Amino acid sequence: MGSPGKQADPSRPVWWREAVVYQVYVRSFQDTGGDGVGDLPGVRARLPYLAALGVDALWLTPFYPSPMADHGYDVADPRDVDPLFGSLADLDALVVDAHKLGLRLLVDLVPNHTSDAHVWFVEALAAPPGSPARARYLFREGRGPDGGEPPNNWQSEFGGPAWARVSDGQWYLHLFAPGQPDLNWRNPEIGDDAERTVRFWLDRGVDGFRIDVAHGLHKAEDLPDQTIERTGLMIGTESSGKYDQPEVHDVYRRWRRVLDSYDGDRTAVGEVWLSDPERWADYLRPDELPLSFTFSLTLAAWSAAEWRRAIEEALHAVRRTGGTATWVLGNHDVTRPVTRYGSLDRARAAGLATLALPGAYFLYQGDELGLPDVEVPPEARQDPMWLRTGHGRDGCRAPIPWNAAEPHLGFTTGEPWLPQGPGWAALAADSQVDDPLSTLVLYRGALAIRRRLPALGAGELRWRDAPEGCLAFDRPGEPAVTTVVNLTGEQLALPLPGRLILASAPVGYDGQTLSLPADTAVWLALE
Ligand code: NOJ
Repeated sequence: MGSPGKQADPSRPVWWREAVVYQVYVRSFQDTGGDGVGDLPGVRARLPYLAALGVDALWLTPFYPSPMADHGYDVADPRDVDPLFGSLADLDALVVDAHKLGLRLLVDLVPNHTSDAHVWFVEALAAPPGSPARARYLFREGRGPDGGEPPNNWQSEFGGPAWARVSDGQWYLHLFAPGQPDLNWRNPEIGDDAERTVRFWLDRGVDGFRIDVAHGLHKAEDLPDQTIERTGLMIGTESSGKYDQPEVHDVYRRWRRVLDSYDGDRTAVGEVWLSDPERWADYLRPDELPLSFTFSLTLAAWSAAEWRRAIEEALHAVRRTGGTATWVLGNHDVTRPVTRYGSLDRARAAGLATLALPGAYFLYQGDELGLPDVEVPPEARQDPMWLRTGHGRDGCRAPIPWNAAEPHLGFTTGEPWLPQGPGWAALAADSQVDDPLSTLVLYRGALAIRRRLPALGAGELRWRDAPEGCLAFDRPGEPAVTTVVNLTGEQLALPLPGRLILASAPVGYDGQTLSLPADTAVWLALE
């Protein structure tokens, strides 16, 4: 282990350890150009909304030049802006305006693969097998008598073999779409170029990064056949040669030194999907990543036992490495909580419960409005996953409804790239902002209270005895905050003398006994 960075001391207050970060899926946030796709000037125009919501930072999904084979996660140049989204000047202006409003800004890094339109891949295709240009990617000979079979049995995350054949007969690895060739991280040129990218954006004033497929950069040296079944999107296990190889940790040690060499507690959050929480927590060792998404709540059913297990496992794992949990209920890859849990009530209760957990919290755009997934008809589907797997992520990516009375609910003056949901006028931000019972007002209130009450920040969590099917935990402090969530499916009467701070739905409370409807969460200050 190298020397711990300046941020490693857990007693030093650092903004990101308990930050609420809002994920902006740029394509679907706000269009200003009339082409039906969100853009950077659109994000800039909506910064006051984010400041009023009360988040600490925003993360922008990729806005780099790209053929959009995976909607920007296929990057042709990691140090520029695609004209579809604006210009570098727009990004600079966004950074300045965000900082003026007290918001920090993270950008996405996509180090595992490039686009097939990246100059390196174009060079690789023009160069012969065995050349330095091919050594930037994972080109191999095929198996079988004429090399006509892929080099190993790996499957792409988007379905089908993870290998594509080029005209001279060699194959290249793509863990995602064929337009996303995997880089060869065992070639030092790749790490050096990635550091250039990291410094490029830090020099422009961004506060950090979200790192795509952070556990995937190195593959097992000899690319062995995988001996286990696929476990779920990007979920690595020890027996898969695709993910979680020991060498990847050196990348984060290197980047941590770079982050720490800048002022202002710059940060990074890794997308590390691993089934073993202990291996996931290794990425949070003091000299590695500041943060790494705790995805277990996106996989847990609406069940007290599953939630408790997910929370306990993550907190236990981060305690060992001195790291912090980074809770997430939704993002642009998973079904939205309203649809996943089956009701808005549950999604609201889940949000309140999660905001009371120790650590950072990433809020996906539109979850603060209680949006469900949209049923996208086959002719409107956009996600490359549909074609190969019959499943897609378009449902959680529909454009944000801003203004009930405007065409396309204020998202665009053109034709949106994905349809919005039926009845979404009622969910538009301007329909909710003055309604005290709306989801937007619930999130605003919760975030304001979380800022004011130190108990809800980083720190300890103690479980409390509760009826079966309930979650109850205390966050010690002055005042201490108790969270109770009813997942039993039935109304409960609980003797809990104290004061009500916030509830995800109307509850009955006389200061002594709490009448807690099903699928409801409360924050209380108990006597
Ligand atoms: C994870 C991203 O979140 C997802 O949207 C993308 O398809 C893959 N990585 C590949 O970059």
